[in-house]
Amino acid sequence: TKVAWELADVNKGEFAHYTIKEIFEQRTSVKAATYQEEHKIKVFCDTIAAAGNIIVTGSGTSYHTSLITSMAGCRALKKRFEPVMASEFKYNMDSIDKDTVVLAISQSGETADVLSATKLARAAGAKILSIVNVSTSSLARAADVSLAINSGPEIGVAATKSFTGQVSLAYSVLDRISGGRIGFDRDAVSDKITKMLAGSAAIERLVNVTMPKVNDIYLLGRSIHFPIALEGALKMKELAYVHAEGIAAGELKHGPLALMDKNAVVFVLNPDDKTYGDTLSSAHEVKTRGAKIIGISNVSNDIYDAMIEIPKMENELLYPLVEVIPLQLFSYYLALRNNVDPDFPRNLAKSVTVK
Ligand code: G6P
Repeated sequence: TKVAWELADVNKGEFAHYTIKEIFEQRTSVKAATYQEEHKIKVFCDTIAAAGNIIVTGSGTSYHTSLITSMAGCRALKKRFEPVMASEFKYNMDSIDKDTVVLAISQSGETADVLSATKLARAAGAKILSIVNVSTSSLARAADVSLAINSGPEIGVAATKSFTGQVSLAYSVLDRISGGRIGFDRDAVSDKITKMLAGSAAIERLVNVTMPKVNDIYLLGRSIHFPIALEGALKMKELAYVHAEGIAAGELKHGPLALMDKNAVVFVLNPDDKTYGDTLSSAHEVKTRGAKIIGISNVSNDIYDAMIEIPKMENELLYPLVEVIPLQLFSYYLALRNNVDPDFPRNLAKSVTVK
């Protein structure tokens, strides 16, 4: 109704849209995600520690969190975590039994594919854990234990603060079980996100001044950066209606290289961790074909036509939390440049309650 819209407008405060307000709220929401009741987080962690078989599931952005959680879980706990898209879950049920724990991740806690995955998994004997934003949601109730990320309402259809909140909570859970192998420090991460956000005007300039008109954007990353390549591409599609693809950089030679020419814009997620040298070679491959390269890194390199600087992180698993910020901002400003309402993209719903 009209009244509701007017109230909602007031709540945007100094910001033009919910999406940008929520992007800036990440300064504090990554901290809020880690404040949990002791008895709940203990059972949650004990359940993961005791599991034989862990499957992590979600949709859209929450699936990207599932990829990150699985990689970080394998690394921190030296056991196999398997990410499965919620919409594919029912076709991949064969290994699920009473030693399986399914960790379901969803901002809304109402996504039909996620709810149906947990229902099937429970019927096959699995235990269910969930990470939600809405603590009263169906998914919170469907789980044996559910933790909430405490991000506050996320109104923009494209997920932003819920993503970094989910990753922060997953990391603090894995740190607790592993005795700190990820080294997630909420205050340090919040400070670094705050610094990234302070550079928003430079990202706005990149979109409006530096960038040629762009129809195709590619994002390259390896290891823990690959899910961010996917998430960045999803934001660009959802918010700005621009064709964008996240590619595991090593897969370039198996097909996508054929698409690279002087019209392509390629983001390269390339901090100086153990993926650095390999990803730099991928950047050379696309540069040779004439593509424009935007490097996201803590070290500069002449190969980048433009560079977005990120801080050095103690542990490479922490990079997703800072890398995603400029990609969210870029997508937001690209939406404005393309005259798209970033809060409510056409054809999309905030929570998809049908299968
Ligand atoms: C919809 C939204 C996406 C979101 C996905 C999963 O498709 O448009 O932005 O990532 O649902 O939502 P959830 O609430 O389960 O995290």
